[in-house]
Amino acid sequence: MKIFIKILKWSGIALLGTLPLVAGIIYAVSEFELRQTYNVPLADLAVPTDSASIREGERLTRVYHCEGCHGEKFKGQEFLNVPMLATLYAPNVVAALPQYTNPELDRMIRHGVHRDGRGSWMFASGMYCNIADRDMGKIVAYLRTLTPSAGPTLPQNSFGLLGRTLLVAGQFVQPAALIDHAHSREMANAAAADTSQVGRGKYIVMSLCSGCHGGPELKGDLDPHMNSPALIVATAYKPEAFRHFLRTGEGGLSKKDCGEMSLIAKGFLTKLTDQEIDDVYAFLQTLPARRLASN
Ligand code: HEC
Ligand code: HEC
Repeated sequence: MKIFIKILKWSGIALLGTLPLVAGIIYAVSEFELRQTYNVPLADLAVPTDSASIREGERLTRVYHCEGCHGEKFKGQEFLNVPMLATLYAPNVVAALPQYTNPELDRMIRHGVHRDGRGSWMFASGMYCNIADRDMGKIVAYLRTLTPSAGPTLPQNSFGLLGRTLLVAGQFVQPAALIDHAHSREMANAAAADTSQVGRGKYIVMSLCSGCHGGPELKGDLDPHMNSPALIVATAYKPEAFRHFLRTGEGGLSKKDCGEMSLIAKGFLTKLTDQEIDDVYAFLQTLPARRLASN
């Protein structure tokens, strides 16, 4: 028995001794992952200069709630801080703009790829890849009119051991790794060209709601940081109740205060038009039939 305990003890110490080695390997492999580049060619984007387009671009940056992550006036702020996992910052966009050409800016927002080709942690790209050229051009047009405002000095993004382990295990993934870069733009333009009411609603939901509500299937997101329902829930709303909920963030069916959702609705979705909300509603009512068809 004694000898058994001794062996256990020594093997325990030996295991402990390998911990720094394991951590070192995780560190090295995750550094490699973090430096990975994506070959997404730059593409021309028509950027209008007329004032109506610029005004529409401003409305779209509100609807797409860029400042929800980047802070008021895009000044930059901490975006994610989970101990051991990662601390990520959403930078001062306006201050960064002079370094970007329009195609580079487009690639950053819709493909999640930095100017030097590295992937980025701008998770919103996973759904902004569904924004069509026509709207992206207006967003860029508006951003170009902004003058930088001083914001906080933000440190570099940093990753803890857990974050790095998840990176190595492929469980903490940059959006650029998931986007179909070769086809996303074409598909977004095709979606925006469907001018039926359901088509218009689908385009808005895919480019605006899908990121938080469980991807293209809109199946909800169980991640405790998100915890959003499948959007089929919208079929339980009467049209007026749905409109009221999106406009005010109040009157959710399951509870009154819907946390993150209420903040997004109050802060940003107020810029949706009544027509757009009705379009979204019309599309969401088709989800049960779509689900049946795919089974
Ligand atoms: C879900 C949060 C989130 C939303 C919403 C979001 N961003 Fe970002 N954005 C980030 C993060 C985080 C980064 C930094 C990524 C990195 O460091 O890898 C970033 C980076 C950027 C950059 C690169 C800045 C630089 O310093 O190189 C630009 C440009 C940008 N975002 C524009 C936008 C625009 C325009 C919108 C709205 C259409 C938007 N973002 C919406 C989180 C967000
Ligand atoms: C930034 C993330 C985010 C975005 C963008 C977002 N949602 Fe949500 N939504 C949530 C979260 C989180 C919840 C769950 C809130 C809760 O229960 O505390 C939610 C809840 C909901 C609910 C259910 C409310 C209830 O309990 O009855 C509906 C309906 C909904 N969202 C519709 C939408 C639609 C439509 C869009 C796009 C126009 C959208 N959401 C965009 C995060 C988001």
